[in-house]
Amino acid sequence: MPDSLEPRAVAPLLRGRFGRPYLFRPTCRSTQELLRGAGLPEGAVAAADHQTAGRGREGRAWHDVAGRSLLLSVLLRPPTGSPPLPQLSLVAAIAVADAVAGAIEGLATAGETAKRRLETAVKWPNDVLVAGKKAAGILLEATSDEVVCGIGVNVNQTPSELPQETRAAPTSLRAATGRTHLRAALLADLLARLEDRYETWLREGLAPLLPALERQDALRGRRLRAGDVYGTGAGIAPDGRLLVRTPSGQVAAVESGEVTLEP
Ligand code: BTN
Repeated sequence: MPDSLEPRAVAPLLRGRFGRPYLFRPTCRSTQELLRGAGLPEGAVAAADHQTAGRGREGRAWHDVAGRSLLLSVLLRPPTGSPPLPQLSLVAAIAVADAVAGAIEGLATAGETAKRRLETAVKWPNDVLVAGKKAAGILLEATSDEVVCGIGVNVNQTPSELPQETRAAPTSLRAATGRTHLRAALLADLLARLEDRYETWLREGLAPLLPALERQDALRGRRLRAGDVYGTGAGIAPDGRLLVRTPSGQVAAVESGEVTLEP
C-alpha cells in the first residue's frame, strides 16, 4: 500500500470532525501558514509531504525529508473562558504520545517483538519521546481568536535521515521499531485522539488528563534545568506547570520554557 497523505488516502480513515476540511500540499513553506487567518472552521487540518520553511519552537527550523514524516497543523478555536491556553501543549502532547504508542503497539499485536523498551513519554511541555529520544514536537501559535497547533512526527526516516543538529537526540518510529509505518493511519488516529482530549479539556480542564500525563512524564525524577531553575522533576501541577524540586528542597513551579536534561 503506498504511503500517501493525499485526501483520498486520509478521508476514509477520519473518525470525527477534526480533518474537515483537510488541505494537503505535496510541498509548502509551513503547514502553519496554510491555516492561519484563513477563516476556516475549528478542526481544519493542513498536511504536507515537505515543508521548505518548517518552524520549530523558539525560532528554530523544523527539517524534514520529503514523504518521511507527519507534518500537520490543526486549527483550534477555544472559546472565551476556556482553560489557560498554555495547557493546550500538554493536551496535544498526550494525544500525540498515545497515537505514537498505538502505532508501536500495533506492531506487537501483529506478532512483533519490536515493542520492548519502546515506551513513549511526554517531555514537558510538548515533546514526545520514544525510548528517551525525541520523535515528535508541537508548536502552538495563537492569535486573539484562533490557535494553530502544529505537529511534526518523525515516522519513516532512517537513522541517517534524522536531523543531527537537534538539541534533543532524535528518533523516528522506523528507527525505533525497525519497521515502516503508514502515515495516513497514524494521522487519522492522532486527529481522533486530539479531538477527544481537546473536547475533554474544554469541558473539564486539565484534571482528567493528569493521570495520563503522570504515567508518561519523561521528567519525573530526572535532573533538569528549566530556565534558571535547576533541580529534579517532581511531576506536573494540576494547572499544567512543571514542578521542580530544587537542591534546597523547595518545589518550584515553572510556567513555560525549554527544559534541558542534565546528564
Ligand atoms: C518543536 O519541537 O520545535 C516543534 C516542531 C513543530 C513542527 C511542526 S511540522 C508541522 C507544523 N508546521 C511547521 O512549520 N511546524 C509545525
